[in-house]
This record gives sequence, C-alpha cells and structure tokens, in this order.
Amino acid sequence: MLDIQNLSKTFNIGTDNEAQIFNNFSIHINKGECTGILGANGCGKSTLFNIISGVLMQEKGIITLNGININKLKENERAQYIGRVHQNPSAGVSPSLTILENISLSDKKCQKFTLRRLIRKNKTEEFREILKTLDLGLEDKLDTEVKYLSGGQRQSLSLLMATMKKPALLLLDEHTAALDPKTSRLIMEKTQELIKTQNITTMMISHNIKDTIKYSDRIVMLDRGEIILDVRNGQITEKELLSIYNSRNYGSQLTEAV
Ligand SMILES: Nc1ncnc2c1ncn2[C@@H]1O[C@H](COP(=O)(O)OP(=O)(O)O)[C@@H](O)[C@H]1O
Ligand SMILES: [Mg+2]
Repeated sequence: MLDIQNLSKTFNIGTDNEAQIFNNFSIHINKGECTGILGANGCGKSTLFNIISGVLMQEKGIITLNGININKLKENERAQYIGRVHQNPSAGVSPSLTILENISLSDKKCQKFTLRRLIRKNKTEEFREILKTLDLGLEDKLDTEVKYLSGGQRQSLSLLMATMKKPALLLLDEHTAALDPKTSRLIMEKTQELIKTQNITTMMISHNIKDTIKYSDRIVMLDRGEIILDVRNGQITEKELLSIYNSRNYGSQLTEAV
C-alpha cells in the first residue's frame, strides 16, 4: 500500500537551526488498516504527513503508493489519492465558500473548472444525500458559508470531503484535538464509520491514547523520527503503552491518558 523507504529530512540545512527530523526512516502501511501514530510533540509526525502529501520534499527516500513512486508528484497531484484532515477545523475547508461550493470543490479535486460551472443541479441532490449521512442537518444549509458552522460541523465536513472520493490513503492529523470531548467522540465515531465502510487505508496521529487503542488496527510510536514501537492492537495494554510513552517523552502529555 504505502511504502516509505530510507526517508531523510533535515530542516534549515547549513544554518544554526539545522534539525534532522528523519534519518533513514522506513515504514510500510497495510491496505485497509488504520494505523495509529503516537509520539511527543515535535517528534516529526506532521512532517511525515507533509512529506507523504507532498507539502514538503525529503532529501532522500522513496515513497510508493499502491506500487507507484509518487516522489515526483506535486501536492495537488497527490491529492487525488490522499485525503487529509488537519487539527484545525478550518484547514480542510474554505471558510468563505458555502457548504455546496466546498463539497463541489472536493468532488472536482484536481480538475480545472470555474466555481459556477462546477455546481451542477444534478450533483446538488447527490451532495445533499452525502451530507445527510453526517446527521448534522448540513444538507439543509447548502448555501451557508462554512465560516458560520461550528468547529465540529466544519471538521465533519472536512472528513466527508477528504473521504468522498475514496482516497487510497487518509491522513488524520490530531483531527479531534481542537474539539470538545463530546464533539470529538462524535467525529471519531463518524471517522470509524467512514473508513470501515469504505475500507480506507488510514494513518491517524492522536494524542489520545484511548482513541488510538479503540480505533487503530496497528499502533506505531515515534520518538525523534524513529519507530520505537510497532504492534498490532491488542498485543499491548494501555498501561504498557503509556509506560513506554512516558519513559521517552518527558513532559509531553497524552490526553485521557489514565
Ligand atoms: N517547515 C518547517 N520548517 C522548519 N522546521 C520545521 C518545519 N516543520 C516542522 N519543523 C520542526 O520539525 C520538528 C517536528 O515537527 P512536527 O513534524 O510538526 O512535529 P509533531 O507533529 O510530531 O508534533 C519540530 O521541531 C518543528 O519545529
Ligand atoms: Mg503535529
């Protein structure tokens, strides 16, 4: 599925702030699984997602997705295969556009278009049906600008938009961290439903150890750009997981850890 071989990434090369984040990092992500990624702040989790999705380029290393080397593809080209949801609910949507415009944009991802031509009548009903699955009443607010939605509604929309074209890979970067506990739970349940019904291969970064255990098939822990733990879910207890995490990550907190 996703295969990363010998990845190296250094920021600010040749300056006083030079920082090597990855040095010969390799990982293979299995098709149809949700891989939970744990690791302290600053250990390189988001950088890894930025490299996979083409926001950042690595100095070294080969990334293949479904057997295709994607190294040379630009971010917008990779977006055809890779869906992403960020921590900030506004990052995955265009706040000044309406729900209908946002969802139309994801539907036409990577194609040339003008917004007016994009929104076709027959598609509107289809989008309304898709939005209904969120159960948030968004199907009745198609012409509402997304900036007027709550964080949870925006994140639900982001999630829907990131998965509606059934991406080969879905990257979730602490996508519930900015939400209150109840909304976070709802979004996690919705995430689970979307990825399991469509069998979407997912990498999920989270600081919530309970969510990681509940929703992942495999758990990978990173420390300073290295994999320090890689287990099938169920092979390790929450207590053991916490103890490994705490032994490496002084001062960095996991939420709902105990
Ligand atoms: N674009 C960038 N330029 C310079 N340094 C960066 C950049 N992105 C991340 N870093 C640094 O790389 C390290 C890893 O960051 P990040 O991948 O965001 O960590 P995590 O997501 O695990 O918290 C941090 O020290 C961060 O400051
Ligand atoms: Mg991060």
